[in-house]
Amino acid sequence: MLLAAVEGRMADVSIFSPASPQAGWIVDLAILALAIIGIIFLVVEGILFYSVWRFRRAKNDAPGEPAQVYGSEPIEIAWTAAPTMIVFFLVLVTTRTLWQVEAAPVQPREGDQALFVTVIGHQWWWEYRYDSYDGRKLDFITANELHMPVGDGETQRPVHLTLQSGDVCHSFWVPRLGGKVDLIPGRSNLLAFETEQPGLYLGQCAEYCGAQHANMMLRVVAETPAEFEAWLANETAPAVEDPAVAEGKATFLANSCVNCHRVSGTAAQGDGAPDLTHLMSRETIAAGQVPNSRSNLRKWVHDPHTIKPGVLMPAFGLSTEEENQIVEYLRTLK
Ligand code: CUA
Repeated sequence: MLLAAVEGRMADVSIFSPASPQAGWIVDLAILALAIIGIIFLVVEGILFYSVWRFRRAKNDAPGEPAQVYGSEPIEIAWTAAPTMIVFFLVLVTTRTLWQVEAAPVQPREGDQALFVTVIGHQWWWEYRYDSYDGRKLDFITANELHMPVGDGETQRPVHLTLQSGDVCHSFWVPRLGGKVDLIPGRSNLLAFETEQPGLYLGQCAEYCGAQHANMMLRVVAETPAEFEAWLANETAPAVEDPAVAEGKATFLANSCVNCHRVSGTAAQGDGAPDLTHLMSRETIAAGQVPNSRSNLRKWVHDPHTIKPGVLMPAFGLSTEEENQIVEYLRTLK
């Protein structure tokens, strides 16, 4: 969120400006519940303040305690029955919304151009494995910034997420697009949403997952189908080979980078850290924490803990020349 402000974007992460039907149903329920709670608050406080004022001590009151009243069957029945009915009503409307929201991920509709992505939560970043789009098989991996196409009046283009975890519990939450769903080790949860409004939607890991939980941010880029196709074409292409950075590539491959990171078509095939094949197609690094600039990449390669204290990647103690070479190589991975 801080980053978006720095970029001059008014990041709107309010649940009260939904950009998808799913988020809309949730906010409708929230407003209904708030209205009911508000009425209860006004009635209870109203009776309380009225009683305090109406039955206050008067000058001509007899000394000692006033008459004591014990028990009233009608009142007891009323204050048991009324809350029971209110809670029962809230259970019904909540269940209806839950079913509505959960029906979408399970049943892709006829005629949808649906996108399927497997999301894997890691400490502290998001891995996106693109599985298929509109019936076409996809097979590439990216990180932290989820791209999806927008629908229009004729065709809906929902994204169906299969949520998994690589380590501990996380939770996927982009307030303007849908409710939060947890990523639990050893199981798969489903979440789907769609939008017709292109834009950048921000979110946040919503389940405490360790030191950098607060900096495990989410960015969803919703774009027109043509823009999305162009992005897909770039992501599915092999990594760029630029002879000008051959030294940097060699340094990268000769160091521990390759144990965790992956660059397709090279010996770097690690899967414990973000796939770097098209690193430069992402606007940010460190799960949305800082812009993907040369200076931030340098800082990161030199010592990632200066940006994200506690991150699993250690400082490798490379020479400044080696670090610069690696950064220049990474900068070609468009
Ligand atoms: Cu991941 Cu909190």
